[in-house]
Amino acid sequence: MTRVRTSVGWAVTRWKDLAKKYRIAVLPGDGIGREVIPQAVRVLEKTAEVFNLDIDIQDFECGGQYYLEHKEEWSEEAQEYCREAADAILLGGVGALDKAGKPVRLPDGNIAGYSVLMGLRQRLQLYANVRPVHLLEGVPTPLADRKPGEINMVIVRENTEGLYVPARGRLTRTEKGDLAIDMRIITTRGAERASRFAYELAMRRGGAPGDGMKRVTCVDKSNLLAGCQLFREVFDRVGEEFPGVNRDYCYVDAWTLQVLRRPEFYDVVLAPNEFGDIISDLGGGIQGGLGIAPSGNIGDTKAMFEPVHGSAPDIAGKGVANPLAAIRSVQMLIDWLASQSGDDHLDKAARAVQEAVEANLREGNVRTPDLCLGKWKTVSPSSTKHVADDIVERISG
Ligand code: NAD
Ligand code: IPM
Ligand code: MN
Repeated sequence: MTRVRTSVGWAVTRWKDLAKKYRIAVLPGDGIGREVIPQAVRVLEKTAEVFNLDIDIQDFECGGQYYLEHKEEWSEEAQEYCREAADAILLGGVGALDKAGKPVRLPDGNIAGYSVLMGLRQRLQLYANVRPVHLLEGVPTPLADRKPGEINMVIVRENTEGLYVPARGRLTRTEKGDLAIDMRIITTRGAERASRFAYELAMRRGGAPGDGMKRVTCVDKSNLLAGCQLFREVFDRVGEEFPGVNRDYCYVDAWTLQVLRRPEFYDVVLAPNEFGDIISDLGGGIQGGLGIAPSGNIGDTKAMFEPVHGSAPDIAGKGVANPLAAIRSVQMLIDWLASQSGDDHLDKAARAVQEAVEANLREGNVRTPDLCLGKWKTVSPSSTKHVADDIVERISG
């Protein structure tokens, strides 16, 4: 119990009144981001209500559509809030089409919205992009005969360097400008912090589904690329600090086959930025599609959460996008806040979201069209909002 000054004098407050306020910046982005993120926010709000969490949500528009309207990808205010005030950020996919159906681009050729996504990852040094691949009960996978629980790995994608660092350009010596260069940058520091994150994550997990071994697989192209050789050397060196974790290696091309043949072997999978990007869509596919694949961009003190998927212009505006990737990203957000604050209420809240999603999928009747496949092809598809309604209803203390 503590005494605090109020307008009517000194009053005794309960701990709840002193609980921390969590400031969440919400940036829905473009396309289906504007459909799934508001639904995920409803889930966050319901969770806050049930678990007595003091959550302050600030919405900011951003992305390609915003750029068309304002000639900038997001406002100064949004940038400052994300940088300075927010405890965590929830972002939807960015990337819009113009009237001619062409991607809206910046003068440098990048997609409009790039500065929001890549800018936040760089600026806040969110060096580990964590992308769980978990086949849940009630979800169709394209892998024949794979059962829930047999696929349970986490891809850790180095998130601040590699091929996606903006060290690039076009040679304009000729009229055509027919030479372009993308530099791939790998540093000891970048490889080290991503590797350490991966090993620490493996220490906290229960091991690979196939053999129960704690394992980190380094997925690279070190048979060819100098950067990958450095990445692997650092991965090995950091690994010496974690004798309880099995070190494993696979070239990225081979991994795309291995993961289809023996997904149960993988526990934590670490990859440089661009390879992690590519293999995480594959991971999304084997766990039931991008519609349910969540992610977290994690740094030492800041974090941003987003579905793995983009703005999906092919289905935008139809109300059929699966909100579960965004909702599961909210679950990761709450879970991360719990890990930072030690607040037990947050921990319970994250579990409640997880249980609600798992129950929705297990029961199987309320799902968007992307999940009405295989055994579930006779289920009549629900809308984005309808699925979120089902999750909101299921969240209880
Ligand atoms: P995408 O992830 O948007 O879509 C790929 C496919 O998956 C599409 O067929 C889409 O309909 C389907 N899909 C994606 N999310 C779904 C959901 N929630 N429910 C059901 N189906 C879903 O990738 P894309 O089409 O290659 O890219 C579209 C735009 O998004 C581009 O501008 C791209 O640059 C951008 N993008 C942004 C991010 C991001 O902001 N993090 C990520 C990926 C792509
Ligand atoms: C992702 C996306 C982005 C990335 C693009 C849109 C720049 O594909 O988050 O996976 O490659 O990081
Ligand atoms: Mn991607």
